[in-house]
Amino acid sequence: MDIETGQPRIGGPAGIGGTWVKPLSLRWVHKIHEELGMPITGSNGIFDHKDIIEFIMAGSSIVQVGSILMVKGIKWLPKMIEGVEAFMDEHGYNSVDEMIGIASKNSVKDYSEQFSKNRVHAAVNDETCKNPTCNICIQVCFYEALSQNPEGKIDVHTDNCIGCELCLDVCPFDSIEMKETAPAQFDQGYFNIPDGIFEKDKFKTSRNNMDTIRRDSPKFNTEPAE
Ligand SMILES: Cc1cc2nc3c(=O)[nH]c(=O)nc-3n(C[C@H](O)[C@H](O)[C@H](O)COP(=O)(O)O)c2cc1C
Ligand code: SF4
Ligand code: SF4
Repeated sequence: MDIETGQPRIGGPAGIGGTWVKPLSLRWVHKIHEELGMPITGSNGIFDHKDIIEFIMAGSSIVQVGSILMVKGIKWLPKMIEGVEAFMDEHGYNSVDEMIGIASKNSVKDYSEQFSKNRVHAAVNDETCKNPTCNICIQVCFYEALSQNPEGKIDVHTDNCIGCELCLDVCPFDSIEMKETAPAQFDQGYFNIPDGIFEKDKFKTSRNNMDTIRRDSPKFNTEPAE
């Protein structure tokens, strides 16, 4: 939006699309795939072949691209397709069908399930990490779980690492991976959430019984307008 005038930016007759919208698009592809199971054309937010794979793994059977061809030109299209083919060869997928919805199937249903999942922690690949030239991951970690050691390598303080994955997302050199924390590692002080520290049902999306609330609340239970 234009905050000078207080006007929304998408005010014309058309023109939505672009990489900024990808998370929203993926969310709805996933929801439709999961709840309706119907064929989906995934679109809005595709930049490269990796985005195409993401849309397919979220549940799209085919995809559509728009604005990136305006930005990059039509020659970008075969590059995207070649990228998908190379990815499938490298990962042993024989058909697009094999990839449809596989990430959607593995997703959690609500925050409660997310909190109950196995803990993970960050691990840095010293071979590819560019520290000390780069220290982006240290800057982004809220939990003081990363520091630079005298050898110019990144130390992960696993007692502080909550496994939020932010460092993995921002590393420009793909040098961080998340590893599942093994039960024995909790005894060594790796971060864990002790039982009973959070209210398990707090994040259940079904926690609010909207039928009862609608029935009992004067706010919802109003007479229909004449
Ligand atoms: C400048 C522009 C104009 C568009 N005009 C229309 C339109 O008139 N009708 C329509 O259904 N979609 C329109 N779209 C949406 C595209 O058809 C397409 O769904 C979208 O751009 C795909 O997402 P992507 O740009 O992220 O790849 C427009 C998109 C852009 C960027
Ligand atoms: S962001 Fe990546 S490359 Fe940079 S210091 Fe961290 S792990 Fe190394
Ligand atoms: S996963 Fe989160 S908490 Fe752990 S090191 Fe990375 S940014 Fe810090």
